Amino acid sequence: MTTAKISIIGAGMTGATTAHWLAERELADLVLVDVVEGMPQGKGLDMLEAMPIIGSDTHILGTNDYADTAGSDIIIVTAGLPRKPGMSRDDLLKVNAEIVGKAVTETLKHSPNAIYIILTNPLDTMAYLAMKVGNLPRERVIGQAGILDSARMRAFVALETGVSVENIDCYVLGGHGDEMVPLTRHSNIAGVPLREYLPADRLDAIVERTRKGGGEIVNLLKTGSAFYAPAAACAQMAEAILKDKRLIVPCAAYMQGEYGLNDMYFGVPVMLGRKGIEKIIEYRLDDEEKAAFDKSAAAVRETHEALKSIVSL
Ligand code: NAI
Ligand code: 2OP
Repeated sequence: MTTAKISIIGAGMTGATTAHWLAERELADLVLVDVVEGMPQGKGLDMLEAMPIIGSDTHILGTNDYADTAGSDIIIVTAGLPRKPGMSRDDLLKVNAEIVGKAVTETLKHSPNAIYIILTNPLDTMAYLAMKVGNLPRERVIGQAGILDSARMRAFVALETGVSVENIDCYVLGGHGDEMVPLTRHSNIAGVPLREYLPADRLDAIVERTRKGGGEIVNLLKTGSAFYAPAAACAQMAEAILKDKRLIVPCAAYMQGEYGLNDMYFGVPVMLGRKGIEKIIEYRLDDEEKAAFDKSAAAVRETHEALKSIVSL
């Protein structure tokens, strides 16, 4: 047994894989909740039986009952439908709004102080919904997108250059959609700006592949969307929170004037610690970056408005 507790709502591909990454870290006891009967119980038990092999005293429980989530420090919401080929993240809006809304209300009854990590798409808007439905302070509702999008860019730069991924820092901000903003000026390899390291056409190709990174996986898998990297991102966020690391990573956060944005979720660098979002970091943007931010913000705002037209918040 460990002393902290994380509940993961949705025991599908991302939910179960998040549990897997977390169990390896021996960070918290885990509860996997899903509507499908037997499936979370089966995955939970299977994972529990792996713990003696990997040497982790993590307790894992699969369940269909929200009461089992009682006293969670962190709730990770992955419940919902994934994208299918040809489907945009926004197509998922209506169905996932109902699922995420219920996940938040039900878990809050049992864990009134939990910090929420939202993964369900359309990400920025589902995080917005979670905060509003739960009437939660912004520090406690964080959307996962930027860690994944930045990791994709880091992986592509590593493939291009042959340098260790550990030496590569990339920052992809903005909404989790095709208008996301890979900040090449702030990205670097061991301190050397990416723009100096790579020719412009190669860098442009990496930026483009990053923007379409989610779709690339969907097209390959055909029956679902990415899960290893998204789940690793959720696990990193949960670890940063429970260990009070004050780790600066890009996440979707509720904007209250930062970057000139208000009343919306948007991907920005945040500091993650035991309170959740401890701080939002504001980069100085040049005109080109500001224009890209505005374009991405407009796309996110559009989805927020679509949500507000179907759900009263
Ligand atoms: P999945 O289909 O494998 O798993 C979703 C699970 O949610 C299913 O097991 C389903 O039974 C469950 N579920 C549905 N309604 C539920 C409810 N009311 N309560 C509890 N569980 C419920 O899908 P996957 O691949 O895990 O993706 C989940 C969501 O995460 C999708 O919306 C996907 O688009 C999104 N996603 C977001 C990413 C991001 O970076 N923000 C990255 C990857 C996925
Ligand atoms: C991704 O970027 C599906 O949003 C998810 O892979």
